[in-house]
Amino acid sequence: MTEWQKTDWRAKPRVQMPDYTDATALARAEARLTQYPPLVFAGEARRLKAQLGAASRGEAFLLQGGDCAEAFDQFSADAIRDTFKVMLQMAMVLTYGAKVPVVKVGRMAGQFAKPRSAPTEVVNGEELPSYRGDIINDMAFTPDSRIPDPDRMLQAYTQAAATLNLLRAFSTGGYADVHQVHQWTLGFTESEKAAKYREMANHIADALDFMKAAGVDSAQAHTLRTVDFYTSHEGLLLEYEEALTRLDSTSGKWLAGSGHMLWIGDRTRQPDGAHVEFLRGVQNPIGLKCGPSMTSDDLKRLVATLNPENEAGRLTLIARFGAGKVAENLPRLIRTVEEEGANVLWVCDPMHGNTIKSATGYKTRPFEAVLREVQEFFGIHRAEGTIPGGVHFEMTGQDVTECTGGMRALSDENLSDRYHTACDPRLNASQSLELAFLVAEELKALRDDRLRAQAV
Ligand code: PEP
Ligand code: CO
Repeated sequence: MTEWQKTDWRAKPRVQMPDYTDATALARAEARLTQYPPLVFAGEARRLKAQLGAASRGEAFLLQGGDCAEAFDQFSADAIRDTFKVMLQMAMVLTYGAKVPVVKVGRMAGQFAKPRSAPTEVVNGEELPSYRGDIINDMAFTPDSRIPDPDRMLQAYTQAAATLNLLRAFSTGGYADVHQVHQWTLGFTESEKAAKYREMANHIADALDFMKAAGVDSAQAHTLRTVDFYTSHEGLLLEYEEALTRLDSTSGKWLAGSGHMLWIGDRTRQPDGAHVEFLRGVQNPIGLKCGPSMTSDDLKRLVATLNPENEAGRLTLIARFGAGKVAENLPRLIRTVEEEGANVLWVCDPMHGNTIKSATGYKTRPFEAVLREVQEFFGIHRAEGTIPGGVHFEMTGQDVTECTGGMRALSDENLSDRYHTACDPRLNASQSLELAFLVAEELKALRDDRLRAQAV
């Protein structure tokens, strides 16, 4: 077999990608991007891969979350900070409950391109191409806005670079210092869970005081004062991905320089398609969305193609079946993986199988269904004796009203209050925290099982 080239995907069938009409403008944008520096570095991607490998063995747990789609007009330091804060809070809740390190990966700094269920959209009798994310076209419902514009890739790159710059500063500049555990609370998350969080933060602060008195603090200062925070997005727009893919001189392997982890969506995972061809060749950790239509045969082929060396941490399977559909799908796929002896990390995305249209016309997700899918995912892994290694959420630190239910009981009528998503409905900060407590309980139950088994 000839060696993989970053352009090989171009000869394969592609779906969900735009047909750019202006070839000169496209070539110019690609040439520019090719000159721009990569956003992430190979050593970081390898470090994340090792941490995901630990999660696949139950020695860590993945928390992946952020916007469904980042948007140019919602780009702000406050929004990035607030999502980062909620993820730190959630990670703290999980670490405290599960007593394992939490690997934090944002759907951030590159999550711009969206697969759509239909190529066109009809509004009041007018049919236009669908919106495909800000990196491709504009959401406004006019013929001009919906034309794919390659220069949008440059703006997306710039926004991703600025976002990552801020995330790096937050991660290492003192903000994520565990001594700030009380400060990550957002003003509007007042609820029973916020009180529970405060109580946990008090315990942590006590433990830190104790460690300091015992002389542990200074020795561990770096670990306690900074976090590793990684970026991820769907590797959908392959012109953008190819232009940012570089040869890593240390390993001699290719690296997708657009983000630490890239995933393949449920609509673009054809084993012979362009997306699988592209992502198989980069050394980054790769995610693969698995919806109800994933067959065992396809999964076998995909596992073999995407992780031929069966490397731990390389492949994350992101299950997204929908509440009530996990039992008929997850066990058969788990068994396929076990039969193949494949090293994978199993993660639950309880968002994408639970999208409905509300009575008031908004796309929403009932919080109860999200919770239920998480519980079903954990229940099945416990029954199969395999490891539920992480969760994948669409969430924001903003006080939006996009998913119904939760502690503050949002109803269909509330959705119009603050519905801001550029694509799918996200959990708001209090729903995210509530979910983190639920996951922590599941992890604690698993840990208790394990300790009991060891004691016997
Ligand atoms: C997404 O993660 O935003 C997405 C489109 O997911 P899926 O491919 O699982 O539908
Ligand atoms: Co989505």
